[in-house]
Amino acid sequence: MINLAILISGRGSNMEAILRAIKKKKIPVKPAIVISNKPDAKGLKIAQKLGVKTAVVESLGLKGGSWEYDQKLVAALEENNVTPKNGLVCLAGFMRIMSPEFIKHYKGRILNIHPAILPAFPGLHSQKQAVEYGVKYSGCTVHFVDEGVDTGPIILQAIVKVKDSDTEESLSKKILKQEHKIYPKAVRLFAEGKIRTKGRKTAIS
Ligand code: GAR
Repeated sequence: MINLAILISGRGSNMEAILRAIKKKKIPVKPAIVISNKPDAKGLKIAQKLGVKTAVVESLGLKGGSWEYDQKLVAALEENNVTPKNGLVCLAGFMRIMSPEFIKHYKGRILNIHPAILPAFPGLHSQKQAVEYGVKYSGCTVHFVDEGVDTGPIILQAIVKVKDSDTEESLSKKILKQEHKIYPKAVRLFAEGKIRTKGRKTAIS
């Protein structure tokens, strides 16, 4: 069975959606550990309530993309038996860029959720960017993590309609509902070995 780690920085609603699906036996993985880089992340309490072990690996000024920080993450993950052989690392609102070394270590075993239809609006404040740009549709993307920012092979996407009256807040809410559907689904597909990757493309069997 796959040992799952979820990395968070805040609210943890995607983490919660995944953990609840696991509890309902919809995803065949073992939730090994939830790690936050922020000690006050709300998601930590939610994970504990759901009976999942938590840890904090504080950034302490170490910049995103630094191997020095990510080495501490690897140590915490491997202590909890989340390895490159049996592990899956889900970034769920983890607001740090991963180092190339970390990505190489867990190659093909790191997923991320992004609140836009990639490759549109990568990076931060995607929902605000979408509203300001005037797009008629936006949504969310689950993708493998590679060395770029939000550039890895796409696994699943979901679309929402953007109304003229939508604000960053209302659009974020609509998108989040879809995130909570597609992230658990993508984790399930991974756990069931149903995702094949060839270059940039993934195929789901
Ligand atoms: C989610 O909307 C997620 O897509 C976004 O942060 C939020 C975290 O919410 N991630 C990014 O913007 C990554 N670039 P959550 O903590 O409630 O899951």
